[in-house]
Amino acid sequence: MEINTVTKRNTILDIGLMKQKQEKITVLTAYDYPFAQLMDRVGIDAILVGDSVGSVFSGYDNTLPVTLEEMLYHTRAVVRGAHQALIIADMPFMSYQVDIRDARLNAGRLIKEGGAQAVKLEGGEHMATTIRAIVDIDIPVCGHIGLTPQSIHRMGGFKVQGREDEQARQILADAKAVEAAGAFALVLEAIPRELAKMVTDAVSIPTIGIGAGADCDGQVLVIHDILGLCDKYSPKFVKRYADISTTITAGIEEYIKEVKEGEFPTTAHSFK
Ligand code: KIV
Repeated sequence: MEINTVTKRNTILDIGLMKQKQEKITVLTAYDYPFAQLMDRVGIDAILVGDSVGSVFSGYDNTLPVTLEEMLYHTRAVVRGAHQALIIADMPFMSYQVDIRDARLNAGRLIKEGGAQAVKLEGGEHMATTIRAIVDIDIPVCGHIGLTPQSIHRMGGFKVQGREDEQARQILADAKAVEAAGAFALVLEAIPRELAKMVTDAVSIPTIGIGAGADCDGQVLVIHDILGLCDKYSPKFVKRYADISTTITAGIEEYIKEVKEGEFPTTAHSFK
């Protein structure tokens, strides 16, 4: 029996069903209330409060400095803005790598204090025990393999992964390990299209691609990248759907000009 008939938020079950029905899953990142509200209104399936917040919002060179407190802050803002999308919060670097107790407590904080419905963490076979431990306390986990930005120093930069046979075999093994550990979905980042298809066919959980070609069960991109709000770098896999930097700049320039020239404020903007 359906109890809440007012607003139905997507659950991990809905996301799983979409793979079975071969309906593509749409995911975008959000870090604040207004963006969450806008994407929720137009029907995004899931929102990722990504630790990419470190690069595109805070201006760091990578995601490593992002803290759990920052993730909690952004997750709460997104949860207040979105009522239909499934909200997945990223576990930041060092919030789950050291020991399982920490991982469980920190995942729990993102659910209990942040209000997310699921967490995401990076890593394959070597993270399977951690994923299992979090799933076992009823916190849904989304895996993330291929290019894992928290491993940037080991990988020597943001490089496509899985082009060599051995790496490709490892990525396939990672996907199977993440699924066996109980993850409900799996992000595949920056791997060749053919390998992403092999992974997608090999696992029963949905794969969400970013730079992994068209054969994944869904796609995720960083909102600042698709709206042209971040000119730091533009990976090949990004498609720009709008250029809001130009719109924002024009608005700010106009404001500066009008204030300087005494055109704003007018009596219409003043109190009697
Ligand atoms: O942090 C993030 O935004 C991510 C996506 C790029 C998948 O992990």
